[in-house]
Amino acid sequence: LAAGDGPRYKTLRDYLRVLRAHRLLIAGMTLLFAGAAFAISSRAAPSYGAEALMSCTDPVVDENTLGGSGFPRRTPELEASVCAQRVTRIDIAEAVKERLDTRLTPGELLGMVEAARESRTNLVAIKATAGEPELAAQVANAFARETARAHTADERGRYREAARSLRSRFRRQATARNTPIVRAQFEERVARLESLGQFARPVEIVERAEPAATATSPSPARNAVLAGLVGLTLGIAAAFLRDALDIRLREPGQIQSEVGLPLMACVSRDALGAAGCLPGAARRLPSADAEAFRILRRNADFIAGGSRVRSIAVTSAVPEEGKSTVAASLAWAQAAAGRRTLLIECDLRRPTLAKRLNVKPTPGLTDYLTGKAEFPDVVRGLALERHPPVNGNGKAPGHLLEVVTAGSPSHGPAELLETSSFKDFVATAARSYDQVILDTGPLLPVADTLEVLEAVDAVVVCVRASRTTRDQASAARRALGVFRDKPAGLVVTGVREDRYPAYGYEGYEEKQPAGVA
Ligand SMILES: Nc1ncnc2c1ncn2[C@@H]1O[C@H](COP(=O)(O)OP(=O)(O)OP(=O)(O)O)[C@@H](O)[C@H]1O
Ligand SMILES: [Mg+2]
Repeated sequence: LAAGDGPRYKTLRDYLRVLRAHRLLIAGMTLLFAGAAFAISSRAAPSYGAEALMSCTDPVVDENTLGGSGFPRRTPELEASVCAQRVTRIDIAEAVKERLDTRLTPGELLGMVEAARESRTNLVAIKATAGEPELAAQVANAFARETARAHTADERGRYREAARSLRSRFRRQATARNTPIVRAQFEERVARLESLGQFARPVEIVERAEPAATATSPSPARNAVLAGLVGLTLGIAAAFLRDALDIRLREPGQIQSEVGLPLMACVSRDALGAAGCLPGAARRLPSADAEAFRILRRNADFIAGGSRVRSIAVTSAVPEEGKSTVAASLAWAQAAAGRRTLLIECDLRRPTLAKRLNVKPTPGLTDYLTGKAEFPDVVRGLALERHPPVNGNGKAPGHLLEVVTAGSPSHGPAELLETSSFKDFVATAARSYDQVILDTGPLLPVADTLEVLEAVDAVVVCVRASRTTRDQASAARRALGVFRDKPAGLVVTGVREDRYPAYGYEGYEEKQPAGVA
């Protein structure tokens, strides 16, 4: 009995399984985030943007205009950078406040604008954002106008200053050597600087801001998409977290590697509570599961590697894993194949077979073991669909399938199953029938189950998918370790057909040989 402790996610299928199993969680989180972002941003106050464009130039285009005046020249790009920095100065904001005659403070006005030189050009863009489109345009235009005005005034001042200093330099240097031509050149330069000081236009507004027709923010659709992506990411993370924290065994393959027994059959959720396809039973097996039990019957024949197995106990780690379902249905499958089969209910604590098979509950196994009933009294025949009762020995009609129910409630079930008369009962039954199937109690909480296992040739362990935990499965494996040499196989119950279609009717037989011991 070897168990695999391989990595949890081996192939892409394992990842897809997690995504598929938690698809509702993932979809829910995506929709929740997207919906919340949409609702919040739909309700947020809209804001509008407006942009004015200024073009900056150095008016001293001609290199010779100021030749030798020592006046620092600027490239248009540098001019634009100087101008862009000027936009967000407090004195500009104060001038804007005055011009617009608004209640907004200069600080608030500054908070509404951004200015930047457009890369590698001499253009400066002034962007304003406001709750109303008109206000945004007004603010952008006012900043543009005030910046242009202040910048122009500064630049013109610089030219006038340059003219003054040129003139005084000329006077200091005035000598008799100055020819009329030299003097005329000086006069001309000074005159140009003075006229620049009056008329230079280093900055022009090339595009006025216009009120925008649509709001720049919020954008509910864009926000919803972005938040949806965040929700999707978190949903996937949550799915893998949940999967990592989930200690239940889900997939048949996962269960098999944990339990370390050959997988003999998978039984669907819909089959739980059924007892084969007996006409008298309270619940019939779905047809795919009937096929699964035929496969289980065949696999059971090979469980001991070819030697004949007459008695098989069906057990599980914990209660409600489908033991009674598997025991009764396996017994049906054996009988339907023409074998004389006896089903014995050894789960004395939670008997269910009498009800499921629609037979009298007493007298049964406990009554036989306490000496209150004889063997023929406790055996009840069950009619099969395709095998009507036959005349066994020429007198009474015999049945291919017979059952011994748990019988009257007893005080010490463990003691009853420990007795040698129980072991003799099983041994006698194994001699008189082709096949004996024992429905037992669970392994972990009940000590007497081990007594039953001791009396049989082989064991079938049921593990219910999506319910039994890793710990329970490995505890059962350890408990079974006592019978290391006893042939054992695994039946996974409660499988969801829609989740693991490969384990359904189609394609199952091809997979089977690997699971047979
Ligand atoms: N008639 C029914 N319809 C649907 N589900 C049922 C029905 N009867 C039983 N089940 C399901 O099957 C489970 C138990 O099946 P079953 O009795 O075969 O298991 P078990 O291992 O023998 O249980 P226990 O340990 O109680 O003997 C129950 O937990 C229940 O979920
Ligand atoms: Mg049971």
